[in-house]
Amino acid sequence: MITEDTMPAEITDLAIGYHRLPAGKLANAVTWMEARSPQPDLAHPLAMTRITTPDCASYRAIFLEIGAPWLWDRVPEMSDAEIAAHFADPRQHLYYGHDETGAHLGMVEFFAADSSEIEITYFGLFPSLTGRGFGKRLMAGALDLAWRLNPNRIWLHTSSFDHHSVIGFYSACGFAPFATGFEIVDDPRIKGTLPRHVAPQIPLIEAERGTGNRASPQNRQVVRT
Ligand SMILES: CC(C)(COP(=O)(O)OP(=O)(O)OC[C@H]1O[C@@H](n2cnc3c(N)ncnc32)[C@H](O)[C@@H]1OP(=O)(O)O)[C@@H](O)C(=O)NCCC(=O)NCCS
Repeated sequence: MITEDTMPAEITDLAIGYHRLPAGKLANAVTWMEARSPQPDLAHPLAMTRITTPDCASYRAIFLEIGAPWLWDRVPEMSDAEIAAHFADPRQHLYYGHDETGAHLGMVEFFAADSSEIEITYFGLFPSLTGRGFGKRLMAGALDLAWRLNPNRIWLHTSSFDHHSVIGFYSACGFAPFATGFEIVDDPRIKGTLPRHVAPQIPLIEAERGTGNRASPQNRQVVRT
């Protein structure tokens, strides 16, 4: 598990090849990215409102609307008391981004660590608003606030569960990849922390079928051209 302000240890078991997971587990390809200086003229920033004591019901609804399509399940795993305790830590920053009409377009969370590094932990637009340039405006608003705290760097991780163009998007926002890895998780749709119908682009496999010898990866001959 990755928590704020930490990088996981490097794995030592580097057996090359395909590895099949048990049903109910998912593997997530992770890319860590960082920015060491502000990106000038990124975009016209959205207006950002800091939420220090979020109303749990509305925060849950916002987090789920933005994140459930990408299997974000941190908040469904937290009790109201845990959410309150989380945001009672002043190093945790939660902002909602608004356009000129006051419409709420998305959210950003970041963690301003004591080490003078800032980690963007959650970042996203409401689903109907993606692909229209608002992401850069939300990021511009977030980075304006974050760089004002004088961090040495701002970093984040993104995963293969997230929007497919998100690495390109973060690159366009001035972030460069510095590490890759993977995360194995229990599928939250099977665990019950997210509804079964969310994220249909990520296969939900409860019990494997057809994994006898003929289909097993070890016995299959893969011809590469
Ligand atoms: C990721 C997200 C914030 C991107 O915001 P967006 O407004 O949808 O982004 P856009 O597709 O309009 O692209 C914004 C910019 O990034 C660039 N970009 C997007 N995908 C790119 C790619 N694959 N390669 C290079 N640049 C890319 C676009 O060219 C655009 O730059 P431009 O305005 O100069 O043309 C948004 O899609 C989102 O909230 N997705 C769901 C939640 C999510 O995945 N969050 C990230 C979790 S880590």
